[in-house]
Amino acid sequence: MITIYKTKNYEELSRKTADIISAQLILKPHSVLGLATGSSPIGTYKELVRRCSEGTIDFSKVSTVNLDEYRGISGDNDQSYRYFMNTNLFDHVNIDKTKTNVPDGMATDSDAECERYDSVVSSMNGVDIQLLGIGHDGHIGFNEPCETFPKGTHVVKLTETTIKANSRLFASVDDVPREALTMGIGTIMAAKCLVLIASGKDKAEIVKKAFFGEVTPLIPASILQFHKNAILVADEDALSECNI
Ligand code: GLP
Repeated sequence: MITIYKTKNYEELSRKTADIISAQLILKPHSVLGLATGSSPIGTYKELVRRCSEGTIDFSKVSTVNLDEYRGISGDNDQSYRYFMNTNLFDHVNIDKTKTNVPDGMATDSDAECERYDSVVSSMNGVDIQLLGIGHDGHIGFNEPCETFPKGTHVVKLTETTIKANSRLFASVDDVPREALTMGIGTIMAAKCLVLIASGKDKAEIVKKAFFGEVTPLIPASILQFHKNAILVADEDALSECNI
């Protein structure tokens, strides 16, 4: 069952998503938040930082798990997702950083790291809210279109579309890592609530396919249609291909 919030623009989308996360933190201070990277959640994180600094919300008892990390770059590299999370959220709120988790992209044994990460997630007794963005090909985390839905955390080869899309954040396309570690679809679907955010006309086509089309691993985000508590927060542009 999917609840859809349509917002006027990105700013309203960010406030709405921050409202959902704030409500969760107020109701349950020990919440486990599943977090995402990319441009989509930046406004939400800014709003959460603002609310934390004015004392409306408190991160002191919160734990977090992130969806994914590039393989082969370390957490202090400014292109890593660990660095993104520190600079966009963790460094600016009263969270205990030892309770924040991102897969280790530098682990020499990536398969062992994936197993370790799955045990971290399962030791948390469930992720309360998992935040998600969506790639132009429908990927969530780094679960790229494929034949079957992957279950647990695993290593993926990024598609050319994703490498190209993410190259805007790198000096050149050659600098974009070719592989990543990502939670699987099974790990993501185990969260109690999923919140996917989408903004902009360039996401309109994939939003329509993912939420109003066939459920298929060729469009990984379409699996959200089978979650019992999934929320889509999207602006008018991202919903412009849908009749709602
Ligand atoms: C990356 C991330 C995804 C994110 C996607 C879309 O590939 N691994 O988690 O959802 O980009 O990013 P954006 O929000 O910048 O469009």
